[in-house]
Amino acid sequence: MDSAEANKQITYLRAQVARHDELYYRHAKPEISDFDYDRLKRELADLEVQFPPVAADESVTQRVGDDRTEGFARVKHRQAMTTLDNTYDEAELREFHARLAKALGTEDLAYTVEPKIDGVAVSLTYEHGRLTRAVTRGDGEEGDDVTANARTIRGLPPTLHGQPVPALIEIRGEVYLSVEEFRRINQLQEEAGEAHYANPRNLAAGTLKQLDTQLVASRRLEVVLYGLGHCEPPVADSQSGFQAQLAAWDLPVVEKFWAVRGIDAVCGAIRELDQRRRGFAFGTDGAVVKLDSFAQQAHKGVGYRGMGADGRAEAARKLSPRWACAFKFPPDRAETWVRNITIQVGRTGALTPVAELEPVLLAGTTVKRATLHNADEIARKDVRVGDAVLVEKAGEIIPAVVAVLVSKRPAGSAPYAFPQQCPVCTTAAVRVEDGVVWRCPNPQCPEKVRRRIEHFASKGCLDIDGLGEEIVDLLLHHGLIKSIVDLFHLTVDQLLPLKKSGEVWAGNLIAAIAARRGTDLWRVIHGLGIPQVGAASAKDLARTFRSLDALAAAPEADLVRIDGFGEKTAAAVRAWFAEETNRALLRELLAAGLRPTPPAESGSGLAGKVFVLTGTLPTLTREEAAAKIEAAGGKVSGSVSKKTHYVLAGDEAGSKLDKARALGVPVIAEAEFLRLLG
Ligand code: IVH
Repeated sequence: MDSAEANKQITYLRAQVARHDELYYRHAKPEISDFDYDRLKRELADLEVQFPPVAADESVTQRVGDDRTEGFARVKHRQAMTTLDNTYDEAELREFHARLAKALGTEDLAYTVEPKIDGVAVSLTYEHGRLTRAVTRGDGEEGDDVTANARTIRGLPPTLHGQPVPALIEIRGEVYLSVEEFRRINQLQEEAGEAHYANPRNLAAGTLKQLDTQLVASRRLEVVLYGLGHCEPPVADSQSGFQAQLAAWDLPVVEKFWAVRGIDAVCGAIRELDQRRRGFAFGTDGAVVKLDSFAQQAHKGVGYRGMGADGRAEAARKLSPRWACAFKFPPDRAETWVRNITIQVGRTGALTPVAELEPVLLAGTTVKRATLHNADEIARKDVRVGDAVLVEKAGEIIPAVVAVLVSKRPAGSAPYAFPQQCPVCTTAAVRVEDGVVWRCPNPQCPEKVRRRIEHFASKGCLDIDGLGEEIVDLLLHHGLIKSIVDLFHLTVDQLLPLKKSGEVWAGNLIAAIAARRGTDLWRVIHGLGIPQVGAASAKDLARTFRSLDALAAAPEADLVRIDGFGEKTAAAVRAWFAEETNRALLRELLAAGLRPTPPAESGSGLAGKVFVLTGTLPTLTREEAAAKIEAAGGKVSGSVSKKTHYVLAGDEAGSKLDKARALGVPVIAEAEFLRLLG
């Protein structure tokens, strides 16, 4: 490459990187994966090194992305928030160590190895022990004031407990959504007939930047802290000491970090981290390696990259420190091809395109299908039937098509034409204003009816034994059911002709349906398929109103008051019960003998007790244990905190057990649990 070509390529790459920075930091809507972004940036940085005259100080490689958005006050950080250089390569990590060893005159360096949390950076200011500010990174010098939103984070103490209490301290960390919470929110999206969010990081970023604090509170953001900004007076002299101080203040910290000496031990710790990271509450896409001693971090040879002899200190403050390095784990990816694109009709009529793939092994499971999200996404990526594609599984997230390998595209392929009508009932599809989702508007669409009934009978709702997809199909096919109410009117005689020697089957199914007439109220509420209402919200509603009649009559003001309910959910519930066809459905269900049971009154054995489950129990499944806890008025939570009453642990319990021990939360085994239940 000559310098003219390099110049062109650099200009091109800079524009690309700037565009993706904007999408990621400001809009939380990246179009490419982190891995691809890192590759672009690396290619650019390499060219800039090779052709220095072209490179300028203000290149995107020399900058922290900028997340500042309209609507927030700007606050200057007392100490700049930097970012880190990434590597995917152990050799580069060893070079990082070699540079430090040379500058400090010894190989025997102490490091910390921490999970690299895939969240949104924040800086919290505590003054005399009180949380006064939460600010995003912004451009590194100045960020957006998100204090009101940060105060909705349940695990974030408004005051520092314990000693010492510095006059002023900036503490850095990462705001995230747990995989569990991300799933819950996506479930609500599905129930609302809305598009899925692509990943927890973007949703966390989007949530932290909401102007509606109530909406923020309805999503359970979490935070984990790991870094020190400005502090007066100093509180620690090393990173490991600072981590211990954070825990002593009762702040949320990483479940595990390693304090090690020498680069071989660093590499060992990274391998161990890779083994354990899937058990962490937050998404972890790598490790951050830090020189442990603050004195060594500040050593003149080990300042910030670019803080050279020419003393460009001002610009340099924005750069990455030389005492830390991020080692990223490559994503699980595989190449395959698209056999077909099909359209799924959801319970609410949402039309979701799905890529039917040539089966491929990815991170231990065979992937046959990947969501294409919506019409706009297919068009943007230009995914076509017959295309070779890369699929990626980032952590626990459903596989996604991340890129089309255009060079392998078969001749004569045509762009995918999104259907204008429901593929099942052929009703013209509609698109709600400003939404991306096309929808089948026909309430009698056979696919919507089928899915509503399936949902009602499913494990998370009425949990009717033996009434899965296949049997629902069979009953529909023979015209025996048209809605959920008909299930309760089925008779053995009607079922007999459906299967050869089906007496036992028919008797069992009718008995199973009858047995669920008295099921938990929350299961019925969940089963109704009210938009925005998943299992967790259904439990809240059952606890608050205790009967379908009371819920049907509840004014919106009472609904909004429920912890975790925003205006949107309250309005959706209100709207559902206001609809005459739904009121008729409720009357018919009650007339058919449905008698839902309200949850146990508080005062019973485990009322109000919060349990966390971990490991494999000797006899109970997790679901069974959770059902017992809830039936006794207790609550099951996904992560251990000071508010946890018991950790119920079985074999191969993971990091939750460590955390329970660290926090002094009682850990009980199954036998003791069963005794508690009486
Ligand atoms: S240290 C100079 N530690 O990843 C110190 N950062 O790519 C920089 N991050 O800007 C921060 N986990 O937003 C540090 N354990 C960890 C981290 C972490 C996630 C984020 C942080 C940082 C970015 C660097």
